[in-house]
Amino acid sequence: MLERLPGFRDFYPEDCARRDFIFRVWTEAARRHGFRRYDIPTLEPLELFTEKSGPEIVGQLFNFTDKGGREVALRPELTPSLARMVGARVATLKKPVKWFNIAENFRYEKPQEGRLRSHYQLNCDIFGEPGPAADAELMAVCLACLRGFGLGPEDFALRLSDRTLWSLLLEALGIAGDKAMEVLGIVDKFERTPREETLKRLEPHFGDAREDFLGQVETLMGLREIEEMGAFMRSLAPNAAIREKIEARLGMWRELLEALDAMDLTSFVRIDLGIVRGLAYYTGFVFEVFKLAPAGAGYVGRALAGGGRYDHLVGKLGFPATEAVGFGMGDVTMAQFLEEKKQLPPIIEAPDVYVVAAREGERRAALGLVSRLRAAGIRTEYALRAPGFGKQFRLAGQSGARLAVVVGTDELAAGNVRIKDLGSGGETLVPLAGAPGAARDALAGGIASA
Ligand code: HAM
Repeated sequence: MLERLPGFRDFYPEDCARRDFIFRVWTEAARRHGFRRYDIPTLEPLELFTEKSGPEIVGQLFNFTDKGGREVALRPELTPSLARMVGARVATLKKPVKWFNIAENFRYEKPQEGRLRSHYQLNCDIFGEPGPAADAELMAVCLACLRGFGLGPEDFALRLSDRTLWSLLLEALGIAGDKAMEVLGIVDKFERTPREETLKRLEPHFGDAREDFLGQVETLMGLREIEEMGAFMRSLAPNAAIREKIEARLGMWRELLEALDAMDLTSFVRIDLGIVRGLAYYTGFVFEVFKLAPAGAGYVGRALAGGGRYDHLVGKLGFPATEAVGFGMGDVTMAQFLEEKKQLPPIIEAPDVYVVAAREGERRAALGLVSRLRAAGIRTEYALRAPGFGKQFRLAGQSGARLAVVVGTDELAAGNVRIKDLGSGGETLVPLAGAPGAARDALAGGIASA
């Protein structure tokens, strides 16, 4: 027996119905916020990711050489392709560009709770806006994508952090360039790594000062107020030039928090410098959304969404520099979350009407009626094999249809059919020609039992 590959999913109809529901809520939220849908190729040149995404994703690529000798990869994320699309038309696109997409991504990672080798991701991105207003707008749509399911601030939180502030901390400590990127990579894994192991990883960069640095990291990660963060950063600044940069950055923070507050989103947002993000291209505010444990007992599971500002990616692809901010939200953690919170609606895929033909002689008229009911927009089923009348009636009941329309021998001879309400048992005789209209009325109002 052939089995499917590890980390991939089959979607049976009920799984598709659930997935469609999630996509619908995401799409409505994105459109409500003024985002337009785009799409990108599934297969891309390998180079697009090796150079732009950072080691974490690159280590998880599904890549191969195609028959033309090209090095290619299945997309592990949408962001580099999107940056290329926007870059190619940046001169003519009306700014801000606000685009969204829902697409399948492929990552060769170890399948585990909340992480698979194929997942769907909603992406919303804004291009051409340097200020925190765009970051706030993006967080608003991200939060709306979760709130659309009836979830609130007691269910999830957006952990807000800042790559710029992290870079300033490292700059204050005299660390820059590639070294800073490496240290940020270690900090990113801090939460999931034993302290001893983190200290070992910091040794090549800090030597004996590694314990001091880790202490500073822990302090910064523990701060939850912007003014506390400011005081801590100022205390580390070795000169006026860095102090000035810190003040400018704190001004951006205030602007962002003010916009979020004005949109009534403060209850969802937590300042938390523990978020660094594994992807290489982020340059400013970054965030991740997590499920909350009951009674405020911390975060649970893998992230529901993650994103941030990436102002250099379009330029690094060879196009004119264009500011960008965006996020991705995955369907795997989302579906688990909705199941736990009982926010998935019941799947109703039953027909509205089941047509029953009394005998073979009425089959032709019954098929004609099926066609007309469907043309009238009514979900209609019938037995393909035309078993006996009693069996057809049983099938009608099992199908979950609300009405059966019976094409009986005597009734048809008089130009009529019988509509039966399978819930109440009530029935009514109607002309064959008017059956679609009568069925629609019966679906709206039911038929009382005699
Ligand atoms: P990411 O954090 O790698 O960001 O992924 C975003 C979300 O996709 C995660 O929070 C998670 O819900 C889901 N996800 C990621 N990997 C997997 C996986 N293997 N299995 C299941 N779900 C997964 C990005 O991909 C960025 N490109 C987002 C972005 C858009 N940044 C700017 N614009």
